[in-house]
Amino acid sequence: MIDWSSLPRPIVALAPMADMTDLPFCLICKDKGVGLMFREMVSSEAIVRQNPKTLKMAEFDQRERPLVQQIFGSDPATMAEAARIIYERYQPDGIDINMGCPVYNIVCNFNGAALIREPDRAAAIVRAMKQAVPCPVSVKTRLGWKHDTDCLEFVKVVADAGADLVSIHGRTKEQGYSGVANWDRVGEARRQIPHLPVLVNGDITTPALAKEALTRSGADGVLIGRGLLGNPWFAKRVETYLMTGVVLPEPTLEEIRETIRTHVRLQIDHYGPGGLTKLRKHLPWYFKQSHKSKELRSKLVRVSTVEEVDQILQTIV
Ligand SMILES: Cc1cc2nc3c(=O)[nH]c(=O)nc-3n(C[C@H](O)[C@H](O)[C@H](O)COP(=O)(O)O)c2cc1C
Repeated sequence: MIDWSSLPRPIVALAPMADMTDLPFCLICKDKGVGLMFREMVSSEAIVRQNPKTLKMAEFDQRERPLVQQIFGSDPATMAEAARIIYERYQPDGIDINMGCPVYNIVCNFNGAALIREPDRAAAIVRAMKQAVPCPVSVKTRLGWKHDTDCLEFVKVVADAGADLVSIHGRTKEQGYSGVANWDRVGEARRQIPHLPVLVNGDITTPALAKEALTRSGADGVLIGRGLLGNPWFAKRVETYLMTGVVLPEPTLEEIRETIRTHVRLQIDHYGPGGLTKLRKHLPWYFKQSHKSKELRSKLVRVSTVEEVDQILQTIV
């Protein structure tokens, strides 16, 4: 079980990302030195209905530990029951509540970022989940719904309800992914809850930006999403830079190829032959910095066999 207050600082963690931070990718991340993982969100309603596909999403390999499972939902009793079921089956090291997702299908049912506008409901969810499981319960949220100052009150509400850690994406719901993450505002929110650990999130894509995000927010660690997609080496590079000032080299093309081959293998082991279709979303990220990325991208998002992946990898020089 995670003890947020005693984890070595600064914390460097993989952010939850739907369809991305699943078992195969988290194993890859672990192997490349990511110390802590937040798994993709699962629906509390589907968990309570014992939906087999959703239950499988929350399954993990013991090598992934320490690992936090994220849950979304809006009803405190259902959220608590989902947390209890997940904990009883898998014993993750922590449970996280999604209070930041801006997607219409999520917010229209008072899930995700909609909870920022429903502080009483958000607090009731935290309290109910805390009572249901023995592990820490954290909250991931945004700066606000419309105003980037909403978080200043909201973080106090979830802290008072018993959240053990708060992660803050430095954008509002209305911003979606536009504009830039405001790490200074995350810092203001951080100062509202000085007794609680906070992770700063959004736009951390280089070791130097990780340092800047930490300095400007005063957070206990960084939560990195897109910066780690196709780039599981990034957490180690961030950690090394923060601890020593040394910037480790980027991975070589051969390391990238080898990692993709491992990813393919893990994907098929976990999902069966159809797993390659699910891998299509990941593959282009491995080459996002390549000058040939556009060309590669269009090939990689169509692969359906291991041989096709191998063939494409061999053509990359
Ligand atoms: C493909 C994708 C899926 C995401 N899914 C989730 C999710 O399941 N739960 C969540 O709290 N945030 C989710 N997010 C938001 C990220 O966790 C993170 O807050 C956001 O990407 C900003 O951080 P970044 O700039 O480091 O990527 C997702 C983001 C992306 C790009």
